[in-house]
Amino acid sequence: MSGIVEQALLFAKKCHEGDNSGHDFEHILRVMANAEKILAEEPLADAEAVCVAVALHDVDDYKLGSDGARAKSFLSEIGAREDFAQKVLDIIASIGFSKSGSRPHFQMIEQAIVSDADKLDAIGAIGVCRAVMYSAVTKRSLFDKQIFPDENLTSEQYQNKNRATNHTINHFFDKLLKLKGAMQTKVGKREAEKRHLFMIAFLREFFDEMCADEWQEYLNKFLKHNI
Ligand code: ADP
Ligand code: NI
Repeated sequence: MSGIVEQALLFAKKCHEGDNSGHDFEHILRVMANAEKILAEEPLADAEAVCVAVALHDVDDYKLGSDGARAKSFLSEIGAREDFAQKVLDIIASIGFSKSGSRPHFQMIEQAIVSDADKLDAIGAIGVCRAVMYSAVTKRSLFDKQIFPDENLTSEQYQNKNRATNHTINHFFDKLLKLKGAMQTKVGKREAEKRHLFMIAFLREFFDEMCADEWQEYLNKFLKHNI
């Protein structure tokens, strides 16, 4: 691992300390591991920019109480080359479900890699755990049979809704089940497929245990229209 990546990770560790909103430092380490797997099959990508962007991608998240300029000041403090710093900041600025939506269009392969690596950590078994953790912290309920998801949610509505009192299961329909379709890289697509199937199995079992037959139906229809 290059020196600048290590420095960025140390800095991120400090920023993420004490977070319990699903943005703890372990998230960064998992996203780094995902990015490394993707990089192994994307030899043309700038691996250093990808890894520094992964390390810094959430340091300016509003949930961590950032002033919005931590990544930028960190890069200038360590004396990163201007074009390199700009590339990293461009990657960070372009990723995220609320910004790029469920069908992102990226200019650079590095953006696609960081985006896929981050999104993989929101789905599968880890994704289920993070959604539950987030809901516990924000005091959302697990499930309300009466409240079905809002269909055709725009990015803007998603952001507002995200702060409202939506139940945890709806988050799967608002976001998590759409992430597979947002994947851009070969490895990302392959891994997302597996994690997606796990979430569907989880939801089916959940609805079965809750005797929520109308939700099984809802899931079937949703999957037909969101492939
Ligand atoms: P990211 O850093 O992946 O862009 P977010 O900041 O939106 O993700 O959320 C962090 C974690 O919390 C993710 O795993 C996400 O799925 C989960 N999360 C976000 N909003 C909700 C919600 N309304 N209900 C349940 N989980 C949520
Ligand atoms: Ni993230």
